[in-house]
Amino acid sequence: LTNPAFAGRSPDPAQPAPCVFLLVPARSYRTADFLAAAGRMGVDLVVGSDGALPLGGRPVIPVTLANPRASAERLRASAERLRASGVPVAAVVAADAPMLVLAAAVAARLGLPHNRVAAVRAAADKARQRTRWALAGLAQPAFRIVPAVAPDDAVRRAAQAVGFPCVVKAVSLSASQGVLRADDTAAAVAAARRIRSILAQARRPAGEPLLVEAYVAGPELSIDGLLSADGLSVTAVFDKPATPDGPTFEETMLVTPSRLPGAALATAVGAATLAARALGLSHGPIHAELRLDDRARGRPMMLELAARSIGGLCSRALRFADSVSLEELVLANALGRDTAPAVRQTARPSGVLMLPVSRPGTLRSVEGRDRAAAVPGITGLTITIPVGQRVRPLPEGDRYLGFIFAEGDTQRDVERALDAARARLRVIIE
Ligand SMILES: Nc1ncnc2c1ncn2[C@@H]1O[C@H](COP(=O)(O)OP(=O)(O)OP(=O)(O)O)[C@@H](O)[C@H]1O
Ligand SMILES: [Mg+2]
Repeated sequence: LTNPAFAGRSPDPAQPAPCVFLLVPARSYRTADFLAAAGRMGVDLVVGSDGALPLGGRPVIPVTLANPRASAERLRASAERLRASGVPVAAVVAADAPMLVLAAAVAARLGLPHNRVAAVRAAADKARQRTRWALAGLAQPAFRIVPAVAPDDAVRRAAQAVGFPCVVKAVSLSASQGVLRADDTAAAVAAARRIRSILAQARRPAGEPLLVEAYVAGPELSIDGLLSADGLSVTAVFDKPATPDGPTFEETMLVTPSRLPGAALATAVGAATLAARALGLSHGPIHAELRLDDRARGRPMMLELAARSIGGLCSRALRFADSVSLEELVLANALGRDTAPAVRQTARPSGVLMLPVSRPGTLRSVEGRDRAAAVPGITGLTITIPVGQRVRPLPEGDRYLGFIFAEGDTQRDVERALDAARARLRVIIE
């Protein structure tokens, strides 16, 4: 390597491009960014997907999540054919959460480094996470798991056991869908009913339990990193300056690098590392969310950990040495390359604001985009929901309207730019 910061890129142009299976769920924000990353790295991507994707004529291996065994077999057979033609598949990467289990299963069949399927499954289930972390003695909110068919009284007892305020949540959803704070037993019972109906509408399996846990008041942060034999290499820590306190939890602003003092940061990273290990994760990206408990002098409490990198378009707020993207780092990590030299964020603070849906209805227009984009420091603005589409706010909704990106000399500048841009937007939902 001439430039160690290019560890994420193809080391030798004379070598054939490594081939990577990228498993892309039908609905993902990340497809374009992974394709771009592969293009920059000279990686040959073979895409498997359960949806029709605009991939510029690139052939897609069809997979069905409802039939993981057959899908894994089809991908294995494709890899076999590729190998026979002199193109061995070097890694299997899930572009987004729904593909994680399949990616681990396929990697296992191909004899490639991978997370154990059980670990990926545990990370995809908030109740299993809590149970494993309790066994490992990790700091986390007190919790109770309420079975799917339990009567209201079970919710009442669970809430009373963890104390108020509490949080009632689905174990399998994301983007804060199906997460509600409850301040008394009546609110907890109502929240549980509402979340069960959200689960039914989302066609989740009928047997899914609910999680009832103590509400942790305090600042929230997220930690992204890449696991390898060397442990966890942190790629980004985001502060969440406008940490919501419920009853719904719109994820709004993320700003990096974190302004936490070094010691607090190290403690939080240590907690995330132990949390990943307790789930049995050993490879690939992780995204951990923690709150620093106001009632325990800022002790980090694990909220959750996913075996993927940060969701939505948020990774676009990050640029690493030599303009490497987070997706490039994820691919490089999957290929067993040393990402350490590139995992140096550019010095400039940056951030992203997710635009929550404020009311139910049909999205008619988002006005003031040019004015918002013209705010000094704003580096991008993307509305991800097409006009004419029906939208719902949390806890039923599962999408953000869009994303605004900013950079600045200080984190405070980034926050101000994002706030100013948001103030110039007028979202019309009728
Ligand atoms: N026990 C808790 N105490 C305080 N806040 C909580 C608690 N559990 C969840 N929250 C809040 O709700 C948000 C969403 O919860 P959680 O991360 O468990 O669900 P999620 O659907 O995976 O969210 P996302 O996909 O946005 O990360 C958290 O980021 C946090 O702000
Ligand atoms: Mg979360």
